[in-house]
Amino acid sequence: MKLTEARRKELRLKVDYTNMTDKYLGDKGISEKTLLAHRKLARAAHAYVAENRGKDELFMGWTELPYNQTEIVEDILSTAKLVRKKFDYFVVLGIGGSALGPIMAFNALCHLHYNDLPKSKRRGPKFYVEDNVDPVRMKELLDVIDVSKTCFNVISKSGATSETMAQYLIISDLLKKAGVNLRDNVIFTTDASRGNLVKISKELGGVKSYVLGDGVGGRFSELSPVGLLPAAVLGIDIKSLLKGAAYMDKLCKSSDPLKNPALLCATLQYIAMQDGKNIGVLMPYSDNLRYVSDWYAQLWAESLGKNVTLDGTPCHVGQTPVKALGVTDQHSQVQLYTEGPYDKVVTFLSVEKYREETPIPHGCENIPDVSFLGGHTMEELIQAENRATAYALTKAGRLNYTIILPEVNEFTLGQLLFLFELQTAYAGAMFHIDTFNQPGVEAGKKATFALLGKPGYDLQKRDLDKAASDPDYIL
Ligand code: PA5
Repeated sequence: MKLTEARRKELRLKVDYTNMTDKYLGDKGISEKTLLAHRKLARAAHAYVAENRGKDELFMGWTELPYNQTEIVEDILSTAKLVRKKFDYFVVLGIGGSALGPIMAFNALCHLHYNDLPKSKRRGPKFYVEDNVDPVRMKELLDVIDVSKTCFNVISKSGATSETMAQYLIISDLLKKAGVNLRDNVIFTTDASRGNLVKISKELGGVKSYVLGDGVGGRFSELSPVGLLPAAVLGIDIKSLLKGAAYMDKLCKSSDPLKNPALLCATLQYIAMQDGKNIGVLMPYSDNLRYVSDWYAQLWAESLGKNVTLDGTPCHVGQTPVKALGVTDQHSQVQLYTEGPYDKVVTFLSVEKYREETPIPHGCENIPDVSFLGGHTMEELIQAENRATAYALTKAGRLNYTIILPEVNEFTLGQLLFLFELQTAYAGAMFHIDTFNQPGVEAGKKATFALLGKPGYDLQKRDLDKAASDPDYIL
């Protein structure tokens, strides 16, 4: 998709933070004075990110992904073309940062019932992301795919994640039993040199592999081959996705939070968190954007949930992300948001122009409660409900702001992802924590190794056995 400068401006994301301010929320809102008082901290966070961008040793390589993948993108596009030609199914085996991005992009940019469409109406093979080790799910996936006609994209930076590697063992066994040469049906996305997938690839005589650079952690990897290959296989315009990210990067050059959308969001969230707003609800008014909430939940939670600052001072920071969907969750969670504790910030994702309008026909003329809907469109209805919910929350003194997407397409999704990534990096810098590590995740991974008898984890196994459930406390 080639975009003129005028079209780019039309597609520019906007942040409407009216309902965060004391002008509209009274004493529950953020005053201009408070915002200005945080300018210095925001500038310092901006400077930290600007100075360290691209540094692999700090896990900030992701900032350069919109710019440094020209060759790799061409390679991905030609692989995707071959995959589309040869396979009926494309299955991603991965978890966490190796799965949430592909799920989000698939849902946002493909038909909502993509797999149910006839082949002639799909741009690629049927698509599945297997990000769990539920035995039922694995078995039932195998009921609907033919492994010999499936391309498996095994995505794991470490190549040591139990979930992904267990899945790999299952599918490699099945492929062998089906008489398929593994090399023909698997693609790896992994670390350049370390990790088990590199060793496996060598053993198999060279599997087609894509590299997840040293400076790109799982949750910041959607714009790397982790997300780009699955997206390209689905016919998503990955160049526009990257262009959208670069455009947002440009919009975030200023160190003034009032001129930099990601810095503004980070500053507002930081101020709210300091005031005890430890829950962050992300509520897209769009089914296409529903899985942005899952992706964002990992990004925000794993990055900010830390117990120590960079200089070793204990801290327990972070904001618990909650996923909600407009309008669906108006009928389940919004009661709590409006009247429950003052412990949340609600971020709406609003869409100005949906892919479809879907008119609501006239009817039930004798029942005014129903007939008023006729002649409107579903686009009008969902937008009115979005506005009404923001209004109701504001009237109840609840912090909320809106990120507006003019449309949902590759260029706007690229902007949104980069906005959230930068926002996270800025917020982490404000808290002075290591935004890019995840010792809490690693601890769980190691405990699983111990429980399943991985060599070298005997001590931890003994400790785990001691911590086993106490029958005295089981009802
Ligand atoms: O953000 C992260 O680092 C994690 O969620 C990882 O992506 C996840 O644990 C999967 O790790 P790997 O890609 O090494 O299999």
